[in-house]
Amino acid sequence: MIVRRARREDYPAFAAIEAEHPGYPAWGEKGFAAEEENRNSVTLAAEVDGKAAGFINFWVLRPQVQLNTLAVSRAGLRAGIASALLGKLFEYASKSACTEVDLEVNEHNAPAIALYRARGFEVVGKRPKFYNNADAALLMRRVLPPREP
Ligand SMILES: CC(C)(COP(=O)(O)OP(=O)(O)OC[C@H]1O[C@@H](n2cnc3c(N)ncnc32)[C@H](O)[C@@H]1OP(=O)(O)O)[C@@H](O)C(=O)NCCC(=O)NCCS
Repeated sequence: MIVRRARREDYPAFAAIEAEHPGYPAWGEKGFAAEEENRNSVTLAAEVDGKAAGFINFWVLRPQVQLNTLAVSRAGLRAGIASALLGKLFEYASKSACTEVDLEVNEHNAPAIALYRARGFEVVGKRPKFYNNADAALLMRRVLPPREP
């Protein structure tokens, strides 16, 4: 597996991955393309056997990084792909002297919450009825150690 910057040709595969997870807020090809206009936005692809098997998008807003979307193809689940994508996010955060990573996750999304806890995130808040005026969002944060001078 390699993790690299996403390219326009990846967007159909990203949209197909989103479609494999009904209920997950999908950006669609246009959503990923729109991020190209935002200079703080980073989209990465995890490539397995030459095919995009997962993606992540985040904004580098020093001193914070905001994780916006992350998903992995059903065929690639539990193989460390999301962890590898998050690992790259942490590298970007560290290089950009960011000290915290923030995200929102549906309170019922147990796999994602388990992933984030395993990677050092803690729940720091809750937004009631955030998703479709029904499910709450948990706000999760990982504080990063300051960079060595
Ligand atoms: C959440 C998601 C990104 C995890 O991707 P993944 O590549 O399967 O995750 P990893 O293989 O890197 O898992 C790392 C750790 O997270 C936890 N984890 C991941 N999926 C889990 C699950 N279904 N149940 C329990 N723990 C889980 C485990 O601790 C796992 O380590 P382990 O496999 O050694 O036990 C994936 O399930 C997904 O794409 N879901 C739909 C989209 C989504 O909900 N994204 C989150 C947005 S907030």
